[in-house]
Amino acid sequence: MTGAPRTLAFRDDALYILDQTALPATATYIEARDVATVAGAIRRLAVRGAPAIGLAAAYGVVVGALAAQRAGLRGDALRWQLEADIAELRSTRPTAVNLFWALERMRRVVDAQRDDTDIVPALLGEADRLMADDEATNRRMGEHGAALIPDGANIVTHCNTGMLATGAFGTALGVIRSAHESGKQVHVWVDETRPLLQGARLTTWELEGLGIPYTLITDNMAGHFMKQGRIDLAMVGADRIAANGDAANKIGTYSLAVLARFHRLPFYVVAPTSTVDLDVPAGDSITIEERRPEEVTQLRGVRIAPEDSRAANPAFDVTPAHLISGIVTEAGVVREPFPSGLVEAVRRSR
Ligand code: MRU
Repeated sequence: MTGAPRTLAFRDDALYILDQTALPATATYIEARDVATVAGAIRRLAVRGAPAIGLAAAYGVVVGALAAQRAGLRGDALRWQLEADIAELRSTRPTAVNLFWALERMRRVVDAQRDDTDIVPALLGEADRLMADDEATNRRMGEHGAALIPDGANIVTHCNTGMLATGAFGTALGVIRSAHESGKQVHVWVDETRPLLQGARLTTWELEGLGIPYTLITDNMAGHFMKQGRIDLAMVGADRIAANGDAANKIGTYSLAVLARFHRLPFYVVAPTSTVDLDVPAGDSITIEERRPEEVTQLRGVRIAPEDSRAANPAFDVTPAHLISGIVTEAGVVREPFPSGLVEAVRRSR
């Protein structure tokens, strides 16, 4: 692959996935020509971030249809295979609702085709549409959200919400980028984001490339810098937002929100309406992914805890709506009361 790195690229009947586990050391691509490769990449976080997971899965269905075609499947056999592919992709990660949202869009495309030969072009068209919409949506969120960032602001962020977590541009990091591109002086405090260090490895890498000033901190430093008056606001992404505004995001986000409230700082969530799940009434109904304990007992493959140490590893936590100052969507900034505001934002975006 040549040119500027992209999270995902579909070319010559293959999906190329930028392997985020190898960043920042090297920008290498995984070539996926079957569903198992795409599902494996999502599971081990080679591609991660709610919108990017949805897009990878959408192209995963295209890759699956091409593989089925190569195997000579037709009619019902082809459709059963695609149903199995969608089930495999759905099983990869449970929290980001964008995965289920994107796969539902792909399933509808399969159902709408009468002729087998139309399936691949129709699926590819839909995946490309999702990709193009993702970038347009992120840029709109960038415009809405940049207004919330004062000139000279020090912003703390958690995990990675940039172009790597999406198709392009980013959500919370996209807003910060918009503010920077509009000429505002901003500085970003980057939480390292244990256990898998998406902040230390990926957000820093993106901010370097964008020329946005930043300082990397460990997850337990934000309170210290808030107390010193060196943080003005927090801006994070989300994996699923319940109908009442409770937001699931990378583990540690809740602690940051509590700290922000204690220090009377604004705490913003930035997410497209595809991350809003109106079928889930409140955050306690959101499934939280529990990952392997080795991700906690080891640091990049090196054991840091005694052998046989027990460890908990929830990948996400839920920030209650009352700690959130505003949710930036492509339809504008939603504020309290969140339930009616989210319904309206979703309605306006469909
Ligand atoms: O486990 P990850 O790296 O997929 O978690 C990602 C996050 O928590 C992001 O903040 C969220 O998906 C929003 S990305 C635009």
